Amino acid sequence: MEKNIVLLPGDGIGPEIIDAATEVLSVIGTKFGHTFTFDSQAIGGSAIDLYDTPLPDQTVSACKQADAILLGAVGGPKWDNNPSHLRPERGLLGIRKALDLYANLRPVKGFKKLLSASPLKEEVIKGSDLLIVRELTGGLYFGTPSERRDNGNAVVDTLSYSRYEMERIIDKGFQSAQLRSKKLTSVDKANVLESSKLWREIVEEKKATYPDVEVEHLLVDAAAMKLITNPSQFDVIVTENMFGDILSDEASVLTGSLGMLPSASLAENGVGLYEPAHGSAPDIAGLGIANPIATLLSAALMLRYSFSFEEEAALIEEAIEACIDKGYYTADLQVQSGKKINTEEMTEAIIAYIEQK
Ligand code: IPM
Ligand code: MN
Repeated sequence: MEKNIVLLPGDGIGPEIIDAATEVLSVIGTKFGHTFTFDSQAIGGSAIDLYDTPLPDQTVSACKQADAILLGAVGGPKWDNNPSHLRPERGLLGIRKALDLYANLRPVKGFKKLLSASPLKEEVIKGSDLLIVRELTGGLYFGTPSERRDNGNAVVDTLSYSRYEMERIIDKGFQSAQLRSKKLTSVDKANVLESSKLWREIVEEKKATYPDVEVEHLLVDAAAMKLITNPSQFDVIVTENMFGDILSDEASVLTGSLGMLPSASLAENGVGLYEPAHGSAPDIAGLGIANPIATLLSAALMLRYSFSFEEEAALIEEAIEACIDKGYYTADLQVQSGKKINTEEMTEAIIAYIEQK
């Protein structure tokens, strides 16, 4: 099959990890008889430098025509003092909104060999395997434009959601739970926020549609605490945009490093965008030592969700697991033993496994 993949390498380590992904995807293409074409487009800080905007129109139109999109990362100190419409992050938020990528799926699965790399005790993380379903196009991120008042001494950010926006992500949470162990944790702050009260009402209403799913409500502060004291109690967590952003970074430590956490951002009907959950790591950009695994796992999610190439996706995941089992690790992982390797060596090791399969 032929697939047109738009690449958005972005900033910092973005280009390095996207290179790793295209190498692996090309090998998968050869092995399974697919032709992947790659079309690289600008986003984030590098787009600001070239075109004076974090999200050029051309990038949006290329993405709309793509079969899938693979993004590296955006942001860096170079643009930190830019006015807000010229911040790299605007590019990412803009493409999420332009493509209505409302559902962000972040699977968090610990690798056995990396249990010791987690800051948590092994017995606490053992058996953790969860999925965060984060709303991605509403809430505080997209309220009416934030404002400074009182000569800059007061600020307003607004959190707004429509019932429709909540319903579709809550449905996604229930449906994701049905495909896993049928346990859904809905996270909100219903003891304080009006938006969370409506959220909780909708979750209660939806229970009848998904009678096979067991639902619990957790306040976000308690959820944050339980995520590190008893992570294996969770299966699917569904929550709004900002809470999901925070909880997914927290959950990533279960895997030993944020460098291992992939994500898929999906629309109702339309192109999907896949990206590592980590940022652009400007401190190590260009050094060739970034961990490519979150991006490779994101590429696997792309094969699975956008193209229904299950076998191909599973082979990438198996190759990654095999390399971790061999003791290979990158600099971001605090492991006690094994062989520390760089981005290229990790990519080559994963490719070697795929090729001999
Ligand atoms: C993420 C990132 C983004 C977010 C930033 C870069 C805007 O942290 O994808 O989790 O907050 O959504
Ligand atoms: Mn984040």
